[in-house]
Amino acid sequence: MAVDKKKTEAPRGGDSAAYTFVTVCRSDELADGDVRQLKARGKELAVGRLVGGQLFAVGGRCTHLRARMGNGELNGTLLSCPWHKAEFDVADGCVAKWVQEPAALKLLYDAALPAFMKRSLPTYDIKEENGDVLVAVD
Ligand code: FES
Repeated sequence: MAVDKKKTEAPRGGDSAAYTFVTVCRSDELADGDVRQLKARGKELAVGRLVGGQLFAVGGRCTHLRARMGNGELNGTLLSCPWHKAEFDVADGCVAKWVQEPAALKLLYDAALPAFMKRSLPTYDIKEENGDVLVAVD
């Protein structure tokens, strides 16, 4: 994995740490509607391209029980977890729907899980350069 020496400040969320853009794949490996599980500097990421061409990068592990989000399904900007179908908006990482399957687990969580435990996915800045896709990671 190639490391771009250019540094950028705080890609998202107002953090003050420095981030570095790291090449994660070739641009032509992500067609519209694709999402893949990739790694950058040991960090697991779900990286994809929305229909229309916009790229996104979010945390690669579901905040419920750590399923690989790169194996999930993309519907518009919503990425659903492959295990229990929680949905996250890749625009900001926020939970759109918490666990949906199995039905008994959904009922339990709907009745008893405080909202603060339904954690968002982290999001990362992403760009294309010279046919490569690069993600800003610390
Ligand atoms: S592991 Fe993702 S919803 Fe359960």
